[in-house]
Amino acid sequence: MAAIFAISSIAGLAQERQFNIIPEPVEISATGNATYQIGRNTPVFVSETGLQFSADYLADYMNRYLGIPLQIEKAKPSKRKTAPKARPAMFSGILLIDKKNSEVSGGYKLSITADKGVLIEGNDAAGVFYGIQTLIQLLPTRAGVLPILPSVQIVDYPRFAYRGMHLDVVRHFFPVDFIKKYIDYLALHKLNYFHWHLTDDQAWRVEMKCRPELTQQGSVREGEIFGLYPGKYEPLPYGGYYTHEDVREIVSYAAERQITVIPEIDIPGHCMAVLATYPQFSTTPDEPKKCALTWGIFNKFNNVLAPKPEVFDFLKDVFSELCDLFPGQYIHVGGDECAKRWWEESEDTQRFMQEHNLKDEKALQSYFIHFVQQVVNGKGKTLIGWDEILEGGISEDCVVMNWRRPASGVKALKTGHRTIFTCSAWSYFNLKESRTQIEIAPRGPLSLEKVYEFQIVPDSLKSEQEKLIWGAQGCLWTEYIPTTWKAEFAIFPRMSALSENVWSPLKKKDWNNFARKVETQVERYELWGARYSDAFFRMQDIERKR
Ligand code: ACM
Repeated sequence: MAAIFAISSIAGLAQERQFNIIPEPVEISATGNATYQIGRNTPVFVSETGLQFSADYLADYMNRYLGIPLQIEKAKPSKRKTAPKARPAMFSGILLIDKKNSEVSGGYKLSITADKGVLIEGNDAAGVFYGIQTLIQLLPTRAGVLPILPSVQIVDYPRFAYRGMHLDVVRHFFPVDFIKKYIDYLALHKLNYFHWHLTDDQAWRVEMKCRPELTQQGSVREGEIFGLYPGKYEPLPYGGYYTHEDVREIVSYAAERQITVIPEIDIPGHCMAVLATYPQFSTTPDEPKKCALTWGIFNKFNNVLAPKPEVFDFLKDVFSELCDLFPGQYIHVGGDECAKRWWEESEDTQRFMQEHNLKDEKALQSYFIHFVQQVVNGKGKTLIGWDEILEGGISEDCVVMNWRRPASGVKALKTGHRTIFTCSAWSYFNLKESRTQIEIAPRGPLSLEKVYEFQIVPDSLKSEQEKLIWGAQGCLWTEYIPTTWKAEFAIFPRMSALSENVWSPLKKKDWNNFARKVETQVERYELWGARYSDAFFRMQDIERKR
């Protein structure tokens, strides 16, 4: 059983205590000087079997990182629809309760008292899981230090319902184990959407049973690409893809951690890997095609789908299979950076446009997106696209992901679209973090403070437009990130800044407090064995010396 300590001699501990929780909770109040110690075999009770995963997750974290085993008390299956009103009498330990109320999804209350221990009451199962994440942030950041917890009462819920991270697995491929690790990092930051960029010019990285050639041919490029944009290739075949089994494993791993996976198949541009497999789908079918061997948007190499019956059959097949494979509500169609010169120069494409009353290439782009939207809607799902999908007009029930300047997001909101903000200048973690940083990218800098200060809600919106802001996301494009350590280096600590910006209420946003907390957060990265960038600390050193 857990031991209980009362450190009443440390006067004022509760009042002066500073917490290091990222993202900052809505309300946090110290409730006394007494403390509660989690010890070996402290019991964890759950109100119902649906919370078993959260209990196991906490026990795994404590054991793996702090070397402290907990004693999980299995819940008895119960037919009860509502949560118990109060904690059991005489209870001391860690108790998890799903209140099943109608308050904000993901909200929770966490109370720690010296006599009873830890009580986490979630508005739903997600709330319980996020309560566990906050509890984790009250634990020591090293093994061998006793977890002595303060008496505290925390009330917390997310500011935005969509809190995402993206990963490009095309420019460089990451194995299933790393994808799971990445998902764990999201969970530790209370992020709830994983946007998985699966296809692009350099490869097609998800198995399609309806078109096995896509991964047989389209998942391997002839060389690894080195050097700055557009890069040069070295003749070493580079490839990899995820099977249906891999996808199912990842989707279920994410779901246990309250994370929905959003797959992206990028069309009608960024399709060189498709055209390497099916040259006949392009406007230049007689030219030989390969998966891209450099980075770029490709005005030079044709990477655009042509509007042909066999292409629309292809789109119907692959997006239908994608909808069946991924259980989440959202499917991402890409739609960005389509090099329209290939359509302008193609007589067949121009004829198609005339026959279908499409006044320009932007309208043709919309035609493609609309086609995929119908397939996706037919499966009961919702389409997301990069903000270019607005250009030729798009129906209201598409979600817009704003990657260019915030003005495109404002346009999306003003035309009635639910919008996710991931504006590149503030949210692309592949940008280097400081001017002198050389490890990850030629472009930038995007400092930790700039990520933190990104204004998710633009000025001068009407309230009904503001309500359409679904949330925000960080992106990791991997042209210059060939290894897992570089991926971690690029996302940390900036993902922690994103998490506070998208979770915590505006009135709790405080850069100086966050900058102080990052010192503890770095200890957590070390505990998790994650690489991180120290650019922020170096900048502070330079400023201190001035
Ligand atoms: C993008 O960065 N092209 C979405």
